[in-house]
Amino acid sequence: MRLATRVRQFQGNLAENGLGPTLYKVYFYLYGYAFDYGSGGLDTTSPATSDTLADDGRPKGDRTAAFPCHPRILRQSLQKLDITPADVFMDIGCGKGRALAVAAGFPFKRLVGVDLIRHHIEVTRSNLQKMGLAEAQLIEGNALTLPFPDDVTVCFLFKPFPEEVILDCIRRLNDSSLRAIIVMGSDLEEVEGYRVVRNYVHRPSTRFSYLLLERDPTVMR
Ligand SMILES: C[S@@+](CC[C@H](N)C(=O)[O-])C[C@H]1O[C@@H](n2cnc3c(N)ncnc32)[C@H](O)[C@@H]1O
Repeated sequence: MRLATRVRQFQGNLAENGLGPTLYKVYFYLYGYAFDYGSGGLDTTSPATSDTLADDGRPKGDRTAAFPCHPRILRQSLQKLDITPADVFMDIGCGKGRALAVAAGFPFKRLVGVDLIRHHIEVTRSNLQKMGLAEAQLIEGNALTLPFPDDVTVCFLFKPFPEEVILDCIRRLNDSSLRAIIVMGSDLEEVEGYRVVRNYVHRPSTRFSYLLLERDPTVMR
């Protein structure tokens, strides 16, 4: 993006949101570009534009924008789980694959990414290849209808859709293998059958707040 466009965006943000949120946004993008660079030249930061949408005219707007999670905060949440090589990580609405790139720093057996938009899946594939993770499973499709792999143990969702749809996705995951759920940027406060391990509020930008849930083996769903 050209410098002049960036400057105009900065001014617009400043006028609309004020100094604090605008500076946080600048920090977040710089952090993102540094993350991409340090991870081998990834492309997870630049915002999705309309030409990144599927060419069959599927919905535009926030729901389909590949806005990425905060890598440091996702890493922190994963550190609270004792990830072992028996674990399988799935990001529902994987965007350009930033969460998968973060999860690659943990000893997961397998990484799975699901996204509605072909372009996002393609960028994710290219990002993961740069990290030497060509074997990750990427599924292009609608998370509202597609069958999920049945061995997922840790599921991550960052703002892909409203709370009731998130709950519907969680209900369709295999109970017997799923042990933890991380929901970032949502108002969700509880999920039946899971206990809240952490309800983290990220004050500088609540879109990166998250709920970390662990399966409660004493509750039948
Ligand atoms: C906010 S981005 C999250 C990006 C990524 N999870 C991350 O943390 O960096 C949300 C993603 O959800 C995807 N999405 C929205 N609705 C979906 C659906 N019904 N099925 C699959 N993916 C969907 C969008 O295409 C977008 O890439």
